[in-house]
Amino acid sequence: MTQDNKLSLAEKYWDYFKIGAAVNVNDFSGIQGELLKTHFNSITAENAMKFGEIHPEEDRYDFEKADAMKTFAKSNNILMRGHTFVWHNQTSNWVFTDKNGREASRELVLERLTQHVKIICDRYKDIVYAWDVVNEAIEDKSGQQYRETAWRRILGADYIQTVFEIVKAQDRKAALVYNDYNNEHPEKLEKTCHMLEILLKNGTPVDSVGIQAHWNIRDISLIDNLKRAIERYAALGLKIQVTEMDVSMFDFNDRRNDLKLPTDEMLELQAQVYDDIFSVFRQYKEHVTSVTFWGISDAYTWKDNFPVFGRKDWPLLFNVSGAKKAAFDRVVDFYE
Ligand code: G3I
Repeated sequence: MTQDNKLSLAEKYWDYFKIGAAVNVNDFSGIQGELLKTHFNSITAENAMKFGEIHPEEDRYDFEKADAMKTFAKSNNILMRGHTFVWHNQTSNWVFTDKNGREASRELVLERLTQHVKIICDRYKDIVYAWDVVNEAIEDKSGQQYRETAWRRILGADYIQTVFEIVKAQDRKAALVYNDYNNEHPEKLEKTCHMLEILLKNGTPVDSVGIQAHWNIRDISLIDNLKRAIERYAALGLKIQVTEMDVSMFDFNDRRNDLKLPTDEMLELQAQVYDDIFSVFRQYKEHVTSVTFWGISDAYTWKDNFPVFGRKDWPLLFNVSGAKKAAFDRVVDFYE
């Protein structure tokens, strides 16, 4: 329950899906910590469990932050999402370099990845219910199916199946997720479904699609795209996890930077968008298993300074002081 004796987010959605937030180690105290303990039953390390952060050198792991997150989760009856094993960002170059400074062989990268996955799974699989196994492998550019990355170049065109099989061998319980952004947009939806159909036909152990959900208040196609995507992914027999949701006050191409606070129009639009989004999630609750926000409150969001350096954004349900916004009330005030 919240301080004003109302149901929290996680309690309100207890029978629907988990409610999560991306966290950093400084989020476990103060207002952020209180919001986390009250409203969320799932957490994702915003950065601490990425390859380059947790395994910065071949013979050195840095578990400190991820261990602190696991300790917080365990003591607050919260579960974790593991983010992420294979991604073209935040992966140290040593992974792809051999002892002679040349590009590592497929065998060497496979050996390193397998060892990394084993060590991470052994340490965290008791608290992790879902792994973002591969992140953002689909190319945004029209006419190209896959993103050209070191992983794909070295491991080969079938690397995605290989990686899922490596993780499945180390954690047979957790849901294995293919995670991406804009994979509710029509063209990327088709590319993603094409990839998933091949993976599933080949027996790849993929359980869920991660829809990152980095959205904004100006996208008039969002709800139709979201419904279509959920139906298409569900038709493949997959579950859906919303993995990194935020609803920016700015369309991606809007470079305005004249606001110190969101306007009333922005706050009302954002409340309506969140209201519509959660109506869809509730409508498809048999397919949606978790909804994670990419942050706890507007006090800190990766959208500050991106894509406009020096600009503040207000994409979440709680304002910079941790108070509920109109969007929060619209997300919890439903009667079904
Ligand atoms: O850890 C270093 C620190 O040592 C250094 O002093 C500091 C100054 O440069 O940088 C720190 O690393 C930063 C890292 O976050 C940890 O704070 C990187 O510069 C910064 O680029 C990185 O940004 C993260 C971004 O992924 C990297 O691509 C964001 O916090 C994180 O929210 C964002 O999250 C991604 C998801 O993982 C995947 N989906 C997209 C989403 C948004 O890009």
